[in-house]
Amino acid sequence: MIEVRIVDTPDEATTAALAELDLVLARTPRPLVSFATGATFAGLYARLAARGPLPPQLLATHLDEYLGFRPGDRGGMVHEIVTSCPPLGEMLRRGTFLPVPSSGEPQELAAHARKLAAAGGIELQFLGIGRNGHLAFNEPGTARDLGFHRTLLAGTTRTDARARFAPAQVPREAVTAGLATILGARRIVLLATGTSKRAAVQAMLAGGIGPQTPASYLREHEHTLVVLDRAAAGP
Ligand code: GLP
Repeated sequence: MIEVRIVDTPDEATTAALAELDLVLARTPRPLVSFATGATFAGLYARLAARGPLPPQLLATHLDEYLGFRPGDRGGMVHEIVTSCPPLGEMLRRGTFLPVPSSGEPQELAAHARKLAAAGGIELQFLGIGRNGHLAFNEPGTARDLGFHRTLLAGTTRTDARARFAPAQVPREAVTAGLATILGARRIVLLATGTSKRAAVQAMLAGGIGPQTPASYLREHEHTLVVLDRAAAGP
């Protein structure tokens, strides 16, 4: 079941996301939190960075990475996270932020999934949404039962990522948590802001549940919160 909350501004959506993080930190002795990337989460990283070091009991990970990208590679997801939020960079150095293996090698991906399971599984999963309805890099057509896997990026996803890479080419492949990974999280909090997300939000909440809109599977999850600003929620 999805709870939908509509707020006035993207900043209020960030406030709601931070409140969810704080709740998990207050309630769970050693929570594993999986972070999302993209412009939607820039506010969250800025506000976390301003708070200073993250609580020592937190374990962190993230959703996805471009194939072969290392943490220092500009345009990459881990690079984005650690540059916009140095406290998460500190966790990466200490080994309490678990990066997605960007090699895409099946054994490495399986080992990563085992590490997350050994840490108790994902307590809180943050998500954005692609304007084609993707979650992480699970593009339309992706099967629901996949765990971490290597995948091809959709055309709209590559177009939207152009600014991260210009003048270089946008990568064609990535490594991503699968829909089964995402739906296995105990709490999911998806943020969507701006008019460009309106059609995807509509399809997620009111379209058919199926692979044509990966985000629609969230309606089968027990404990999901979707936070929309008015622009993404529509009239
Ligand atoms: C990328 C990420 C997604 C994210 C999406 C939206 O494709 N893989 O996880 O939800 O971008 O990003 P933005 O917030 O910039 O719109």
